[in-house]
Amino acid sequence: MSLRVNFVYETRANRSTRAARAPRPAGAWRRQDPEPDMRLTAHHCQALTGDIPVPGDKSISHRALMLGALAVGETRITGLLEGEDVLRTAAAMEALGATVTRDGPGAWRVSGRGVSGLREPDDVLDMGNSGTGARLLMGLLAGHPFTTVLTGDGSLRSRPMARVTTPLAAMGATFVGRSGGRMPLAVTGAADLLPLEYVLPVASAQVKSAVLLAGLHAPGETRVIEPEPTRDHTELMLRHFGAQVRVEDRPDGTRLVAVTGQPELTARDVVVPGDVSSAAFPLAAALTVPGSAVTLRTIGLNPLRAGLIDTLRDMGADITIANPRTEAGEPVGDLVVRAGPLMGVDVPPGRAPRMIDEYPVLAAVAASARGTTRMTGLGELRVKESDRLAAMARGLAACGVAVEETADSLTVHGTGGTAAPAGGAVVDAELDHRIAMSFLVLGLAAAAPVSVTGADAIATSFPGFTDLMGGLGARIAADDTRD
Ligand code: S3P
Repeated sequence: MSLRVNFVYETRANRSTRAARAPRPAGAWRRQDPEPDMRLTAHHCQALTGDIPVPGDKSISHRALMLGALAVGETRITGLLEGEDVLRTAAAMEALGATVTRDGPGAWRVSGRGVSGLREPDDVLDMGNSGTGARLLMGLLAGHPFTTVLTGDGSLRSRPMARVTTPLAAMGATFVGRSGGRMPLAVTGAADLLPLEYVLPVASAQVKSAVLLAGLHAPGETRVIEPEPTRDHTELMLRHFGAQVRVEDRPDGTRLVAVTGQPELTARDVVVPGDVSSAAFPLAAALTVPGSAVTLRTIGLNPLRAGLIDTLRDMGADITIANPRTEAGEPVGDLVVRAGPLMGVDVPPGRAPRMIDEYPVLAAVAASARGTTRMTGLGELRVKESDRLAAMARGLAACGVAVEETADSLTVHGTGGTAAPAGGAVVDAELDHRIAMSFLVLGLAAAAPVSVTGADAIATSFPGFTDLMGGLGARIAADDTRD
């Protein structure tokens, strides 16, 4: 069984049956919830081979939909990630008055309403599992003088939002939420938002982006100072749509990013590259399943996202970047990967912002390496879709891998060189797509199968994961868990 496509494109044929109830224009679409409580099992497999694309970049897809909704004219997007998280953002943009149309796989159009032109939604916006969707949206809503209620799934409702609401409140927006500023929360934007200079207390592209997107509505320049540079997709795309963005690297290692408010954004074409954070899973599998040789096509290689590749090369991985090029302002290339012996390394803490989402899969790779891998400076992993430090430490231990966890570090003692990781465990995804995929990748190289419960979480970022891995020769199958 594969992860089901989680939206329905309403063709003329399937629309006719429900047309009487709810007529929708051609090209209209709606989300469909993924299969609940899916359990997948990964089995030890032979060499993986093949040449594949991976789904579109999640970060860029969210931003394309949001800026498309604020632009004047029609933005055409190709390669959009059609995962659950991004579809939530598409639905939110529609609820806020933009027109969002799906023309075919990955091909979408957004007719925008201009900066500050969104309208009050008539219902609660459910952002599902998506921290990026929710936090960036709060930035957009901060400049609109109406009230929106935001909620999400159990994971999103437990995540800290004060990191975003604090600077946005300083600009003039009002928030009412649960304790700790958690969702559900209501945001009432201000028509006369103030510009802000904000020093980020943690390196977070989501917080930076929320403040910059709010800054679009304020007069003058809104500035964010990051302790170290984080992914800059918002800055690149703001420029692409015609906003004035200033970036200054300072001698102390901090970076200032400033946007000039109240621009007219103009609709643009956006080409979304493959998501390096999704490519990380077939890449890790190809490195750890002996004899594998895999090519991953058209992967976004923004230097602020590609820290995993540096780390894997430090471990001795055979990864070549073929056909490097720039597409829509973002560096892109094909990753040619071959399995081979890997050595444990110390990952410098300063690399964390450049590979923040890749520590779970790195930990799975480290389990097969020779020697010890130490990952430090990882406090932020505790507030992702799950507490990723705890989830990885628990799951690795269950798979027979020696692991140590501190407040902000993970140390994995690899079994490589003597034996494959034992595996033979059932691990829960904890509503976290990356935890689910990391343990399935580990299972492909392990001596005994690894099962993941709650694997439906994978649909948030990687629709078609099992089919795509199966196409390379991986053995990942759904268990029949019916009584
Ligand atoms: C993202 C930023 C990161 C990352 C997330 C996507 C983004 O979060 O973990 O998956 O698109 O801006 P933080 O900003 O919380 O580090």
